[in-house]
Amino acid sequence: MGAKFITLEGIDGAGKSTHMKRLGEFLRARGLEVMITREPGGTELGEEIRNLVLHKKMHAETETLLMFAARREHLDKVILPALAGGTWVLSDRFTDASFAYQGGGRKVAQSKLKALQKWVHGTLQPDLTFLFDVPLEVAAARLRGTRDKFEREEKAFFRKVRAAYLKRAARFPERIRVIDSTRPLDEVIKELEDIIISNCL
Ligand code: TYD
Repeated sequence: MGAKFITLEGIDGAGKSTHMKRLGEFLRARGLEVMITREPGGTELGEEIRNLVLHKKMHAETETLLMFAARREHLDKVILPALAGGTWVLSDRFTDASFAYQGGGRKVAQSKLKALQKWVHGTLQPDLTFLFDVPLEVAAARLRGTRDKFEREEKAFFRKVRAAYLKRAARFPERIRVIDSTRPLDEVIKELEDIIISNCL
C-alpha cells in the first residue's frame, strides 16, 4: 500500500497537537517514513501567510483566499512530493478547517469554498481525517499562552466552527472519524492507532 495522507482537525484546544507527535512515533516505529506538517503553513511562504492570517484583521474572503493560497503552495512543495516519494504525510489541519472556520465560523459561502477546493486540490482528499471533538468549555480551558486572532474569538464563533466540523464529518463518515477527546490521552491514542491499523496499514 502507498503512503497515506492523514489530517488532524478540531476547534482550538481540542488536543490535536498533542496527538500529532504520538501518531508520528507510532508510524515511524513501524518503519514508515513520516512527514509532519501544518496549515496554514508548512512551507516558507505558507508560514508568512500564516503569520498574516493569524494576526491581522481582514475580510473573511481575504482570509479564505489566503488559506487556500498557502495550501496550494503546501501541496506543491510538501504534500504531493512526499506522497509520491512514499512518505506518509500527517498534517495539522487541511481544507476541512476552511469549511469549519471560514464556512461555519465566518459564513463564507459553501459554493466559494467548494470552488477553491476544486481549484486547489481537484479530487484529492486526505485518506483519513481525525476530528478531535470536545465541548467548547473543555477546549477553552486547554488553551495556553498568548492567543492568536482565532483563539480570541467568542464562544459563539467556536460553537459554529464545531457544528460545521460535525456536519462535515456526518457527510463524509468514511473519511472523517470523530474522536471524543475528553477521554484520557492513552485511550484516545489507542483508538487512533486501531483506526489506522484497520484502514491504512
Ligand atoms: P492551530 O492549528 O490551532 O495552531 P496552534 O495550535 O499553533 O494554535 O492554528 C491555526 C488556526 O488557523 C486555527 O485557529 C484555525 C485557523 N485555520 C482556519 O481558520 N482555516 C484554515 O483553513 C486553516 C488551515 C486554519
